[in-house]
Amino acid sequence: MIPSYANFGGKIHGGILLSLMDKVAYAAASKHAGNYCVTVSVDGVNFLQPVEVGELVSLLASVNYVGRTSLLVGIKVIAEDVRTGTVKHTNTCYFTMVAKDDAGKPTPVPELLLETPEDTRRFLEAIKRREFNAQYREQFDNARTKLAAEEQLHLLQQERCQLGY
Ligand SMILES: CC(C)(COP(=O)(O)OP(=O)(O)OC[C@H]1O[C@@H](n2cnc3c(N)ncnc32)[C@H](O)[C@@H]1OP(=O)(O)O)[C@@H](O)C(=O)NCCC(=O)NCCS
Repeated sequence: MIPSYANFGGKIHGGILLSLMDKVAYAAASKHAGNYCVTVSVDGVNFLQPVEVGELVSLLASVNYVGRTSLLVGIKVIAEDVRTGTVKHTNTCYFTMVAKDDAGKPTPVPELLLETPEDTRRFLEAIKRREFNAQYREQFDNARTKLAAEEQLHLLQQERCQLGY
């Protein structure tokens, strides 16, 4: 990680890591798909520990799941202090990518060969992740509709805000 990647606090900018993760997700997805892929959504981006200038960052990626046209790529980010050999895990996240054909339409991807029990665990976990995300989106959309109502204003009483209107 070179100095120009640093933020005002001297640590590596989160956007630099995100950009690297996006490129790695693209590489893993497009290699499996045999087609160009686009990023659809990203789950679980939490920066657990800061990355320092001078650390060697490695991104470990695998295609964990495939749907018809989508692929879920899991990425683990580790940062190593090359002088001490200390390695820290800074982030694990999941990119949903979709393969596109030459006309820019979603196109089917090859099925996934699960070569180890770990591959199977990741595939099953991805099914759950997909289910939970779909449920979350539906529930949140419902909740948002209800939040528009004036009678929900009591929810603000415990919060650190004031109505200014
Ligand atoms: C993603 C995109 C292709 C979906 O197009 P669409 O017409 O809705 O296509 P479909 O409904 O057939 O969905 C295609 C796949 O994406 C998945 N998908 C769509 N929206 C999704 C979301 N929000 N989260 C996760 N997966 C999603 C669908 O489940 C489907 O997967 P499957 O074929 O494995 O079952 C389209 O929205 C797109 O091109 N977005 C822009 C992506 C982009 O340019 N990214 C770069 C960063 S700007």
